[in-house]
This record gives sequence, structure tokens and C-alpha cells, in this order.
Amino acid sequence: MGILSSARLALLQAIGLVALASSSPPPQSHPSIPTTDSISSSSTDLTKRHLSYTTLNTYRKAHGIIMALCFAVLFPAFALTLYMVPYSKTASRIHAPLQLLTLALAITGLGLGIQIAQSFHLLHEEHPVIGLVVVVYMVACQPLMGYLQHRHFVKRRNSSVFGHLHRWIGRAMLVLGVVNGGLGLKIARKEAGDQGASRGVVIAYGVVAGVVGVVYLVVVLGSNFVKSRRSAGSKEKHTASSA
Ligand code: HEM
Ligand code: HEM
Repeated sequence: MGILSSARLALLQAIGLVALASSSPPPQSHPSIPTTDSISSSSTDLTKRHLSYTTLNTYRKAHGIIMALCFAVLFPAFALTLYMVPYSKTASRIHAPLQLLTLALAITGLGLGIQIAQSFHLLHEEHPVIGLVVVVYMVACQPLMGYLQHRHFVKRRNSSVFGHLHRWIGRAMLVLGVVNGGLGLKIARKEAGDQGASRGVVIAYGVVAGVVGVVYLVVVLGSNFVKSRRSAGSKEKHTASSA
């Protein structure tokens, strides 16, 4: 029995060491990522730590990709459907379902972010705090305001206070979310050493966010300009015909 358990222990230790040796090197400056210096005498412990390091690293990447995709690309693109899809039910049949799907994705990213922040004791940092405020607002208020505006529009055919809040706070939250993504990349570079985001990733994020921002502005301002020209034109026609 004694021989059996020491053989089991030796085998587990060997598995643990092989797993550690074949893993990518741990980041240099992350406070709680295990390093080879922290090898404990218990091999089961060692295997668990190795797994949690790999898992947390995957969570970190998945969190960054999901959140950046939601805030820098999907939310703004689906807001623009209201301007770009010529269909009387775009808000209820296209914009709302696509934004709700993106919100579900952002909630998954939030869950991963909370896990990472808890494991690395980073919950007090600006990035997680701002991110929590933004995502909680997106869940608690944004769909409700959108729905109330939609109901108002069906009855009265114009914009209400809900529409203004949904539009303006929605736009502000998207900007805050994108800026917060930049803060996330900053923590990842500072905390995760070699495993953090590369310079190329930071530049790519800035370029994508910038291009989407410019396209958003051009579409919204362009569409408002066309609308105001049209209404000025129809007013002119009206005064000319009544003179
Ligand atoms: C988290 C989910 C959502 C986000 C992030 C979001 C975002 C936005 C944004 C940014 C705008 C303004 C577009 C612009 O003019 O720049 C907008 C407009 C609008 N959204 Fe949403 N939306 C969401 C969910 C919904 C839902 C569930 C509905 C329900 C039907 C909805 C209905 C509308 C309507 C009717 C407008 C036009 C508002 C107006 O004309 O005053 N949205 N949305
Ligand atoms: C607007 C919402 C958010 C966006 C756009 C966002 C985006 C990002 C991005 C792009 C990164 C860099 C990932 C990498 O390159 O490895 C990151 C890192 C991080 N995020 Fe977020 N995030 C958001 C919300 C949150 C929330 C709510 C939390 C936690 C409560 C959180 C916790 C973290 C942590 C701890 C890191 C650093 C991971 C590390 O140590 O390297 N984030 N985030």
C-alpha cells in the first residue's frame, strides 16, 4: 500500500513537471501567475496551478477579443442599421435583436473579465470598474429605453425622452466602452509581461476603433444633412405652392 502510494506520488510529480516544462513561459510581472520558483512539494497542486495559469491566459485573450469586438465593432455597426437598412421595421426586427445578441456576448466577456480581475486582484483598477458600469448600464437600461421609444413611436410617430436617452447615453456608453478597451490593453501590457497584448494588437485596436468611429460620424451626420435638405426642400415647395 505504502509502495503503491509513493509510486502514485512519483508518477503525479513526473506528470506535473513534464506539463510545466512543456508550457509556455509564465509572464514576468503578473502578481499571481505561478512561476517555476513556486513549485510546491504536492504534485497535484502543481498540475492544478498549471491548468489555472493556462485557463486564465485563455480567459484573458477571450475577454479582450470578445469585448473589443462588441464595443468597437458590433454595437456601433448594429446602431447604424437604423440609418442604413431601408425598412420600416428596422428598429424592432433588425437593430433590437442584433443588439441583444451582442449584449449576450458582452455579458460572457464580462464574466471572463470578473474571473480574471478576481484571480489577479485587479477589481479595484479603473478598467474593471468602468467596464462594470458600462455593461451593467447596457443590460439594465439600454434595451428598456429602446423598447419604450419603440412603443412611443408606434403610437405617436415621433421621438420621446426615452429615444433621446437611448440614443445619447447609448452613444456615450459606446465611446466609454471603446476607451475602456484601451485601458484594458494597458493593464494587459503592464501586468501580463510577455503574455500581454503586443504593440501590434494595440495599434490594430486603435485603427479599427478609429475607422469605425469615423464611419459612424459620416453616416449619422450625412443622413441628418440629407434629411434636413429634404425637409427644407419640401417646405420651400409648400410655401411656393401656397403663394
Ligand atoms: C444593448 C442594446 C442596445 C444598444 C447598445 C443600442 C444602441 C443604440 C444606439 C447607439 C442608438 C442611436 C443610433 C444613432 O442615432 O447614433 C439606438 C437607437 C435606437 N434604438 Fe437601440 N440599442 C439597443 C437595444 C435596443 C432595443 C432592445 C430596442 C427596441 C426596439 C432599440 C430601439 C432603438 C430605437 C427605436 C432607436 C432610435 C431612437 C430614436 O430615434 O430616437 N434599441 N440604439
Ligand atoms: C467595456 C467593457 C470592457 C472592454 C471593452 C474590455 C476590454 C479589454 C481588453 C481589450 C483587454 C486586453 C486583453 C488582452 O490583450 O489580454 C482587457 C483586459 C482586462 N480586462 Fe477588460 N474589458 C471590459 C470590461 C471589463 C470588466 C467589467 C472587467 C472585470 C470586472 C475586466 C477585467 C479585465 C482585466 C483584469 C484585464 C487584464 C488582464 C490581464 O491581466 O492581462 N474588463 N479588457
